[in-house]
Amino acid sequence: MIPAPKYPYKFIDQIIITEEEIRQRVKSLGDQITEDYKDSEKLVLLGLLRGSVMFITDLMRQIQRPMTMDFMSVSSYAGSKSSGFVRIDSDHKSTIEDWDVILVDDIVDTGKTIHTVSRLLNDRKPRSLKTCALLDKVEQHQVDIDIDYRGFEIPDYFVVGYGLDLAEKGRNLPYIASVNLEKYKELYGDF
Ligand code: PRP
Repeated sequence: MIPAPKYPYKFIDQIIITEEEIRQRVKSLGDQITEDYKDSEKLVLLGLLRGSVMFITDLMRQIQRPMTMDFMSVSSYAGSKSSGFVRIDSDHKSTIEDWDVILVDDIVDTGKTIHTVSRLLNDRKPRSLKTCALLDKVEQHQVDIDIDYRGFEIPDYFVVGYGLDLAEKGRNLPYIASVNLEKYKELYGDF
């Protein structure tokens, strides 16, 4: 057995949220959702690809209710900065009309992605629509949005891990880590 290296990416600065902290928070979000949707028979978790994958698969295992899962693929970033441009690359498969939808994302930065997608989904007449994000950079919001189920509020670090990436690197880390951008550029050039 070869132990996994603690820092498999050399541009990692510090672990800011540990695996255990994530596990506990995801469990409590799952408990809260289980309680809030105890009367719902039509609950769907709708994840935004690709960053939400690790979060949504952990979260759904903590929800003690019948539920389904679907995904949309949207993109909003170019490099390390949010472009504010939201592109729908592929849509969810099942109807959400009359369903209780929880829109799940890994991180809210400007809020434009979750805000834009929420508006689109509301037009599709769900019974209810709530938002859920593991990380929320509240001070960076550029639109008026409240996240109904929030894992952690974080400052404006660039972070990777638990699904989040920098130029596709770092998604497989089991924790949330801050990035040393200078080190990254030294290793890989600009992004
Ligand atoms: C990231 C992240 C959110 C969005 C947040 O997605 O997953 O969806 O940006 O930014 P905002 O609040 O400023 O709109 P990205 O486009 O990088 O795609 P990914 O999920 O595939 O990494």
